[in-house]
Amino acid sequence: MTDLESAVAALETARRTTLTLTDVDEAELTAQHSPLMSPLVWDLAHVGQQEEQWLLQAGDPDRSPVFPPAVACLYDAFEHPRATRTQLPLLDAAASRRALAEVRGRVLDALAGLGPDASLFAAGMVAQHEHQHDETMFATHGLRTGEPLLHAVPTPAGRPLPADAVLVPAGPFPLGADPRTEPWALDNEFPQHEVDVPAFRIGRVPVTNGEWAGFVAAGGYDDPRLWTTVGWAHRVAAGLRAPMTWEPDGAGGWTERRFGARQPVSPAEPVQHVDLHEAQAYARWAGARLPTEVEWEKACVWDAAAGRRRRWPWGEEPATARRANLGGGALGPAQVGAYPDGASPCGAEQMIGDVWEWTSSVFAPWPGFSPMLYDTYSEPFFDGTYTVLRGGSWATAADAVRPSFRNWDYPVRRQVFTGLRLAWDA
Ligand code: AVJ
Ligand code: FE
Repeated sequence: MTDLESAVAALETARRTTLTLTDVDEAELTAQHSPLMSPLVWDLAHVGQQEEQWLLQAGDPDRSPVFPPAVACLYDAFEHPRATRTQLPLLDAAASRRALAEVRGRVLDALAGLGPDASLFAAGMVAQHEHQHDETMFATHGLRTGEPLLHAVPTPAGRPLPADAVLVPAGPFPLGADPRTEPWALDNEFPQHEVDVPAFRIGRVPVTNGEWAGFVAAGGYDDPRLWTTVGWAHRVAAGLRAPMTWEPDGAGGWTERRFGARQPVSPAEPVQHVDLHEAQAYARWAGARLPTEVEWEKACVWDAAAGRRRRWPWGEEPATARRANLGGGALGPAQVGAYPDGASPCGAEQMIGDVWEWTSSVFAPWPGFSPMLYDTYSEPFFDGTYTVLRGGSWATAADAVRPSFRNWDYPVRRQVFTGLRLAWDA
């Protein structure tokens, strides 16, 4: 595919997901399921407003905007925190869809008129932005109760695994994105720079529900020695007893609420909907720790034998349904062992897709960071209060994740599709 074709394809893939996730009645679109989340109708129009802002306003001064300033400001995420967005005079669903279609029509015209050497970075960035809001809308759907509105596509079955940890030998590797192979990498993935990493071991696969149930049964939520001081304070204040979606089944086991349906917890699937504090307590209970984000990235792509980074854990080729669980169709993680074809050079599996993995790293710029066109994408979040998540989840689009991709959230957040992978000093 040419760059133009891949940019247009990414925009179209994102839009299909956006329209699917918002193909619900007006009451569902305007409902607020949690103060942590926007009503779906806000995300819907926000992606169009941002698309106009980044792809049209600079280049199209003589057409009247689709989102005039008084409307555009309703979709400014910094002005209006998520909890307050239902109180805004938002566009209704029909007006939002019309605005999205109008912006998209103008964008496709503008892209078609670009010369062969024009940069398509902004288009890729906007496609990734829409994909990110699609994942946020999956999380909103995840918090609603009532009849299921979304239906899952099956994933491959898991398989028994040879060992529970793999070794990553000591040595330097280039951390971050190479602009020649990753034209859509975002500002916080640059600049690529060499880092030396002592040897460590990392979990072959993410921690599973079955393992997590063992932690709960062993009293992990009741033992302050396993938790950090802030983690324990949060555990008590928030009354945490198990992952966000779990409920006792009345017979000593657990059920899980997933997109409106209640189902038995699947022991072979990676655990999701745990916060950083829970992840750290689990790791301590297991005699392990969380990986740093640098360790995580090295385990994902560093081919020690060849002395080079791979583009993806499995090689240079793009993700497929046999390599990773991405794109949202599965509505949940696949069983561990389901993607032998997705293994990284060190033997770690399911690093891309399934669940975002908590790391022990605070979100901070790489040395020499400079902001991109959308200059408030990363920089306002370098304040030391966010923790890095890596690898993407089942709800992340393939176009919106890379081994160098850095996501971030507050340590207490668990409505996101977050899990963990253990690490040990070697
Ligand atoms: C990168 C997922 C942390 O959703 O808060 C969306 C992405 N930034 N619109 C978020 C984002 C602006 C961001 N995360
Ligand atoms: Fe946004």
